[in-house]
Amino acid sequence: MKYDVTVIGSGPGGYVAAIRCAQLGLRTAIVERYPVMGGTCLNVGCIPSKALLDSSEHFHMATHKFKTHGIEINTPQVNMQQMIQRKNEVVQDNNKGVEFLMKKNKIDVFFGHGAFVSKNKIKVTPQNGEGVEVESEKFIIATGSKPIVPASFNYDKKRVITSTEALNITDVPKSMLIIGGGVIGLELGSVYARLGTEIHVVEYLDRIIPTMDSDCSRELTKSLKGLGMQFHMRHAVTEVKPGKKSVKVTAQSRDDESKTLNWEVDYCLVAIGRRPYTDNLGLENIGISTDEKGRIPVNAHLETAVPGIYAIGDVIQGAMLAHKAEEEGVFVAETISGQHPHINYLLIPGVVYTWPEVAGVGYTEEQLKEKGIPYKPGKFPFRALGRARASMDLDGMVKVLAHKETDEILGVHIVGARAADMIAEAVALMEFRASAEDAARMSHAHPTYTEAFKEAALAATAARPIHI
Ligand code: FAD
Ligand code: NAI
Repeated sequence: MKYDVTVIGSGPGGYVAAIRCAQLGLRTAIVERYPVMGGTCLNVGCIPSKALLDSSEHFHMATHKFKTHGIEINTPQVNMQQMIQRKNEVVQDNNKGVEFLMKKNKIDVFFGHGAFVSKNKIKVTPQNGEGVEVESEKFIIATGSKPIVPASFNYDKKRVITSTEALNITDVPKSMLIIGGGVIGLELGSVYARLGTEIHVVEYLDRIIPTMDSDCSRELTKSLKGLGMQFHMRHAVTEVKPGKKSVKVTAQSRDDESKTLNWEVDYCLVAIGRRPYTDNLGLENIGISTDEKGRIPVNAHLETAVPGIYAIGDVIQGAMLAHKAEEEGVFVAETISGQHPHINYLLIPGVVYTWPEVAGVGYTEEQLKEKGIPYKPGKFPFRALGRARASMDLDGMVKVLAHKETDEILGVHIVGARAADMIAEAVALMEFRASAEDAARMSHAHPTYTEAFKEAALAATAARPIHI
């Protein structure tokens, strides 16, 4: 059978693209090299990491906050195997969910590694067994990404690990050194710090989550230090030597080469970014070359150099985020069917699921300064909020950046309880190009965390927050 569209990769980009294609009446197939659907996000990314973040947060609450709330319990113990088992069940439920959606939408699923034979044909080779050829009018490449691990870090998957292995440790480690103070390092670092592991984070730059607003980095550093995590900024790891039961790591100060730090820890987690994954995809057979970062170049319609072959998600430029990949999946499906969709990349929010959570959308203050856009900042601390005091979630702040003359909201940055959910209001308002005054005049239920957003908007628009 020849398909209208075949999607290569079943992550959030690929499976969403396939569903939208099928909804639009296109005869659709999807190809996945692993025997389970859902890609990085569902199997070794967003979902399992959030499952462990939730479990470890419950443990941390029980050990550190219950007593103050007036709840007396015996000393809680971690059952790591059960924690991992529950995480696996969450993943399996989601796997089944994606398979169900494929059936419901009559999308044919081929398990095996797909490689281009020609512009209209791929060969799909399963792990064991004969390959089959799949013919298609159009293809959507959604092959995602893999962790970056320099050869010098001696990645052995036992003591030197990436996020994939860090999601499956079945005993609480005594100590862990994390290379990279980005999203993965801080989320997984939080999981283990809450369970009692001594965590060291070595970051090359002078702040953690360096692509987010610098106020967020500052606030989060304070909170995570409070959790016991230790940070070593402006250091470069020079040696990683795994042994049987531990790993030795050396880092050198970037300011004074004679100064080094040395650790012997249970695990070294490498979290310095991810690379687009196009291994053995046969791109050379159809004349597509990747750029200097390994990404597949695409035009404004997300079409590659070969007409009819599109690429989306982590394998192309832009933030490596599940919801960005999903938007692109819908965008390409609609483009193929003759519609004229649109994605506003500035309004794709970024979230870090630490506690407190961090969320941002639009421009950071650094970007506004760099671009010379005149702005007025308005800030409101969570500790001034009744709701935050009731729950004892006092860390963090909301920052609204509005245009100095027009008052249009240009950026919103939040560190605090439920920031991940609160950012949706900012995205909606910015999508409709609201002013800070619009946000400040909207009624926000009391007591809620969202009142901090209203107050920060008041501070930005008229320098008159009510509660500070
Ligand atoms: P992927 O999800 O990587 O899927 C690509 C799929 O293609 C894979 O299943 C792969 O096996 C398959 N494939 C590759 N090559 C072939 C081939 N030749 N033939 C057949 N199949 C192939 N993002 C968020 O937005 N929120 C989060 O909370 C979040 N948490 C994360 C936590 C961790 C630990 C990690 C590692 C990532 C996290 N991300 C998160 C990032 C998110 O997982 C990715 O941005 C997202 O999965 C990208 O989707 P994708 O569809 O482009 O690719
Ligand atoms: P990242 O790009 O977020 O962070 C990497 C960090 O490592 C940066 O701070 C960087 O300065 C630092 N670094 C780079 N090389 C280094 C070196 N040699 N030594 C020390 N530090 C070094 O990458 P990360 O954390 O690996 O995550 C990969 C991707 O996965 C991210 O781009 C993110 O988009 C996605 N992700 C998203 C999540 C979310 O949305 N909540 C959660 C986890 C991952």
